[in-house]
Amino acid sequence: MAVDLLLGLQWGDEGKGKIVDVLTSNYNIIARFQGGPNAGHTLVFNGMKHVLHTIPSGIFHDSAKNLVGNGVVIDPVIFKKELDKLEEQNVDYRKSLLISRKAHLILPTHRLLDAASETAKGKAKIGSTLKGIGPTYMDKTGRNGIRVGDLELSDWKEKYRALANKHEAMIDFYDVNIQYQLKELEAEFFEAIEVLKSLTFIDSEEYIYQAQKSGKTILAEGAQGSLLDIDFGTYPFVTSSNTTAAGACTGLGVAPNQIGEVFGIFKAYTTRVGSGPFPTELFDEVGETMGRVGNEFGATTGRRRRCGWLDLVALKYACQVNGVTQLMMMKADVLSGFKSLKVCTAYNYKGKTITHLPYNIEAENVTPIYSELKGWKEDLTEMDNDSQLPKELNDYIDYLEKELEIPIKIVSVGPDRKQTIFR
Ligand code: GDP
Ligand code: IMO
Ligand code: MG
Repeated sequence: MAVDLLLGLQWGDEGKGKIVDVLTSNYNIIARFQGGPNAGHTLVFNGMKHVLHTIPSGIFHDSAKNLVGNGVVIDPVIFKKELDKLEEQNVDYRKSLLISRKAHLILPTHRLLDAASETAKGKAKIGSTLKGIGPTYMDKTGRNGIRVGDLELSDWKEKYRALANKHEAMIDFYDVNIQYQLKELEAEFFEAIEVLKSLTFIDSEEYIYQAQKSGKTILAEGAQGSLLDIDFGTYPFVTSSNTTAAGACTGLGVAPNQIGEVFGIFKAYTTRVGSGPFPTELFDEVGETMGRVGNEFGATTGRRRRCGWLDLVALKYACQVNGVTQLMMMKADVLSGFKSLKVCTAYNYKGKTITHLPYNIEAENVTPIYSELKGWKEDLTEMDNDSQLPKELNDYIDYLEKELEIPIKIVSVGPDRKQTIFR
């Protein structure tokens, strides 16, 4: 069976966790393929809210296996906290959670290096989640990293010490004031490593291959969003992994010709957390209303998310790079009550009108050009059927489908599992 992908098409926080949870009953395996605890995926059901960082969003379904793939970076300390929370909810994760031996570990000094790098950048900082993502991927591509499979070898602690020593020297080199007690951080780290070691480590590319061969259904769950992709995002204000479709191939060991559906998920408007350009960002009451009604605060850092209108130029680009076959539109309920809705259809780029995403999208280079559509008044949050959607929302959907040339198959009208309308 082909592997389906679910990917964020904007700057993250599109609602990936919610939809993966909704779709899990259709799949045997849910697999994360990149990113790490910089992600915060929110699931709401039975009146409870759950936030997952590294663990795939299928974990609340007994029927599915949940794989943390080779492309993911794992912080054992945060991972342990996630497991503790699951235990509190009586989730029996021991049989269903699998970890790739080839996934890299985030060390305490990776987190410190992240902080040192951001502090040294000053105003030019990326706005990293400070989870050590960048430094860990740097060690991966620099061929210095420590992998989950290393924990099964007798000499891994020596490798750890050498790397941590090197990191300490690098922190000194930054010459910024970072206070830390490595002994305490290490005590917590080594304790968490023991918990990690009690889980099932596998050669995940072989597992995925055999699962495909035997007809198992697999959904790969993206983290972050396409505009945070290390190659195709708004560099350098991006994360350090390939968040786009190709990342699922390298992050799981799935061959490109084995990819099936590509579900592209987007908010009915746009948000971004952290630094970097955002052409349709709003600094007025409208943006403030989106943030307030949409409760736009980061699930990992609690930071306020910047809000703005939907950007079709960027969305088309994301659909293209990912080969999206079906769309899912989230948070339609948040737009209820706006008299009119703007959608950016082109940019004025250095005096010219363009409809593709250029190299520079900073405010001094691009000005968005908008089309305006009628808004709707109706509260959507109690609706559970396509036929109940107001005319103006249907017009909005039709318009987007025409522009993007991809069908919108799900409209989400609230954070709860049940607030999901299939079209
Ligand atoms: P993810 O990182 O893509 O999984 O998304 P996050 O969990 O970081 O952010 C999405 C936020 O929106 C969470 O607080 C969700 O509970 C919430 N959410 C998801 N879908 C909807 C929706 O359709 N309407 C509203 N109002 N909230 C939603
Ligand atoms: P989910 O999976 C939104 C952003 C950070 C920062 C940049 C780099 O929940 O959608 P990093 O910590 O990766 O070095 O930060 O990327 N970022 C996210 N923004 N959602 C996320 O994940 C994000 N993960 C990272 O805010 O701007
Ligand atoms: Mg999130």
